[in-house]
Amino acid sequence: MQKNNIGAMSRRRFLAVSGAIAGTSIIDHQSKVYPAVFHISKTDQVKQKIALVGTGVRGVSTWGRNVVRDYSDYVDFVGLCDNNPGRLEFGKNFIGASCSTYSDFDKMMKETKPDSLIVTTVDDTHDYFIKRGMELGANIICEKPMAIDEKKIQTIIDAEKRTGKDCRVTFNYRYSPHRAKMWKILRSGEIGDLTSIDFHWYLDTSHGASYFRRWHRLVERGGSLWVHKASHHFDLLNWWIESDPESVYALGDLEFYGKNGPFRAENCRNCPHTKQCDFYWDIMKSSYNKRLYVDNEKYDGYLRDGCVFRNDVNIYDKMAATIKYMNGVQVSYSLTAYSPYEGYRIAFNGTKGRMDAWIQESNPTTDRRYDEIVIAKNFGKREYIQFPQSGGHGGGDKILKDQIFILNTPDPYKQAAGVRDGSFACLVGIAARESIKSKMPVMIKDLTTLIPQTQKEYKRV
Ligand SMILES: NC(=O)c1ccc[n+]([C@@H]2O[C@H](COP(=O)([O-])OP(=O)(O)OC[C@H]3O[C@@H](n4cnc5c(N)ncnc54)[C@H](O)[C@@H]3O)[C@@H](O)[C@H]2O)c1
Repeated sequence: MQKNNIGAMSRRRFLAVSGAIAGTSIIDHQSKVYPAVFHISKTDQVKQKIALVGTGVRGVSTWGRNVVRDYSDYVDFVGLCDNNPGRLEFGKNFIGASCSTYSDFDKMMKETKPDSLIVTTVDDTHDYFIKRGMELGANIICEKPMAIDEKKIQTIIDAEKRTGKDCRVTFNYRYSPHRAKMWKILRSGEIGDLTSIDFHWYLDTSHGASYFRRWHRLVERGGSLWVHKASHHFDLLNWWIESDPESVYALGDLEFYGKNGPFRAENCRNCPHTKQCDFYWDIMKSSYNKRLYVDNEKYDGYLRDGCVFRNDVNIYDKMAATIKYMNGVQVSYSLTAYSPYEGYRIAFNGTKGRMDAWIQESNPTTDRRYDEIVIAKNFGKREYIQFPQSGGHGGGDKILKDQIFILNTPDPYKQAAGVRDGSFACLVGIAARESIKSKMPVMIKDLTTLIPQTQKEYKRV
């Protein structure tokens, strides 16, 4: 009974906040509470010294070559680090940076003294580089997921408090125009009081299957898709709902990949079953993949074209969770990793109506070239809002990087995320993992020192 009252009260608060935002300039509201470039001091823009650890595909492209190409007026790369010397050398040439390269992280930090450190290593190492990077004087720009378990998250929370440094988590999913539009509509009051969300994500047998080829297939490296992938989705929920998650109850299984396959090998290049296997993938067809991964296997033995049916796959490929939020909103979530097409369906249920979206990211079943949001009023008409599909997440990637590298870039939709947001996004997935083991709901407040709030807070931890 008391819980319901809290839920009802918090929903009224949600609307009050919505009304405030709808009725005033969103930019004014935002800039007062949460500067977008929150780790550049509010003095005149000076060129930031940047170091990067993890020269894999994400490090050398999104946070490497593209940054040199688009932000050289604002940043200088001063150091690159990776524990695979071949990939490090390739990365330096590919990025086009003239800085030094290091296999020793501490040495790089001490010699180059970067203002900011970009962390694009394998997920289970993020916490180490965030903590050590802060201790050695840098603010951090980290790829999702921020960390793969609650102890690692606590390490980051403590390091941020102790060092006074910041960690920006680069949740690029927040930046797609259609997702920002949903954020705005939720605050406009159009569907009334938000009460629940149905959210179902489908990974396909190409991109989705690739998680089962790579290090992501091991829970100890990526935290399972509950954390590696779904932290994107949980972050979207946390951001849209603007409240913190309270509890998670989850189910999951591995029924398609790994031990379930009809045959297996270590990797596709050494497989006797290539003719029968729908998942056969010839990495040698891409000279980029060959140079980034195959040529450097000799240093660490990492096989980028691993077999999706290897017996060591220990993550789930079908998952479902019920998530309760502090403001009473409840969410039905699922993730399926072997669908014929990739994308998601979402419905936001409110007291005055509903907002639906069906976004297809690969192999769409129609030749439609736009994404669509539908707003249906309980006793009114439907409204269809369409967005042309385009690369770079519809321009979102540029806004994310502008906010990170260019001083005073506005943040009208509160898309900038720090340690608090990075933590809650991972904690939902970590709680789901724990819930499957214990067969019980898991309370988010029991995992770290972070205290979930009814109204999401925009401040450091
Ligand atoms: N936001 C997104 O949409 C998105 C997309 C892709 C990847 N990512 C994230 O980017 C990160 C990197 O992913 P990726 O696809 O580039 O993987 P990758 O395997 O291509 O690269 C990881 C790199 O980290 C290096 N590395 C691993 N452990 C290290 C250590 N202890 N010290 C130094 N280097 C180490 C590896 O040698 C490799 O070069 C991951 O955290 C991933 O979740 C995010």
